[in-house]
Amino acid sequence: MSSNVAPTPDPRLADSAFLKAARGEEVPHTPVWYMRQAGRSLPEYLAVREGVGMLESCMDPALTTEITLQPVRRYGVDAAVFFSDIVLPLKAVGVDLDIKPGIGPVVESPVRTLADVEAIPDLTPEHVWFITEAVQALTRELGGTPLLGFAGAPFTVASYLVEGGPSKEHARTKAMMFGAPDVWDALMRKIGGIAAEFLAVQVRAGASAVQLFDSWAGALAPADYAAYVQPHSARVLATIGELGVPRIHFGVGTSNLLGPMGEAGADVVGVDWRTPLEDAIGRVGDRAVQGNLDPTLVFAPTEVMTARAAEVIEAGRAARGHIFNLGHGVIPSTDPDQLARLTEFVQTYPLTPRR
Ligand code: CP3
Repeated sequence: MSSNVAPTPDPRLADSAFLKAARGEEVPHTPVWYMRQAGRSLPEYLAVREGVGMLESCMDPALTTEITLQPVRRYGVDAAVFFSDIVLPLKAVGVDLDIKPGIGPVVESPVRTLADVEAIPDLTPEHVWFITEAVQALTRELGGTPLLGFAGAPFTVASYLVEGGPSKEHARTKAMMFGAPDVWDALMRKIGGIAAEFLAVQVRAGASAVQLFDSWAGALAPADYAAYVQPHSARVLATIGELGVPRIHFGVGTSNLLGPMGEAGADVVGVDWRTPLEDAIGRVGDRAVQGNLDPTLVFAPTEVMTARAAEVIEAGRAARGHIFNLGHGVIPSTDPDQLARLTEFVQTYPLTPRR
């Protein structure tokens, strides 16, 4: 049953390589998990999702728990990522949206005016009781494996709300940002508040760390990111910082933004594969990094993949801390056995002293 009392953390979490790396402490091995590990590349995932809609599965604590555990059982990764979606909290407060297979989130009535923004309710824990229940069950099941909670950052979630669906250019979103700064500010504050509460619900129920996904921030010039987006992400990260768990902040195509994204205040900055990790380390400030093997390398011969993984691990030794990951999500057609070999390679790679 759900309760408002935070569970006592499992004592084995103190030895977690994932949490140690996030805090910049020495690790026994480079910790590894994968964005989208709990998704379509696993046959056991496809089996339990048969005939169940994406949002429906996110609102069913038993199913959410099972799907979150699947990649942990299969790969023995160093962290579980909570199975949900960045638009789930909007759905929970009553925004009419769906996640369509092969397309992504689609919003029935896109947000365009101040009245549209003001019509979106703030998130309360009651809206997402099923999240609390699933996280509590997972925390018990996972024992010494940390659960990573997550939310979408204000810009990336705003893009779905304003465009009404997935977008390459984010043209309407940026038009609002440039042309109606008061509406933009209200929207970013609204989504930021929802994101912060969504993360807090997960942490209060037992999540050991959180990731704030600003997947589409790479669409912005640095000055615009700094003026219109970073302060809102920073507010979300500061609110969660008060709960004392490590915070990861990730975006795609953010080579130019790694400095300001680091300054938004996370403990760890996620890096996609387009930026060499050694360059990223210089840009994020005194923070840990996460990444950044090209997700397509999992389709290469095993020895090619592991040679490139070794380069990523070696580069990561110069960082304050390093969590191994792909540069973006697992591609649905990925061979799970190859991901299992990659996981074992990273976890058994002999570490030299930190540079
Ligand atoms: O990482 C995990 O395995 C945990 C679960 C998770 C999902 N979405 C499940 C999902 C997480 C962390 C997300 C985050 C998310 N959702 C992001 C940020 C991460 C990123 O990839 O940059 C974004 C931008 C979204 C929005 C969204 N939801 C997209 C782009 C899609 C994919 C559309 C498609 O089908 O190609 C979704 C749907 C979605 N979210 C699926 C899953 C497993 C597929 C739905 C299905 O199986 O029917």
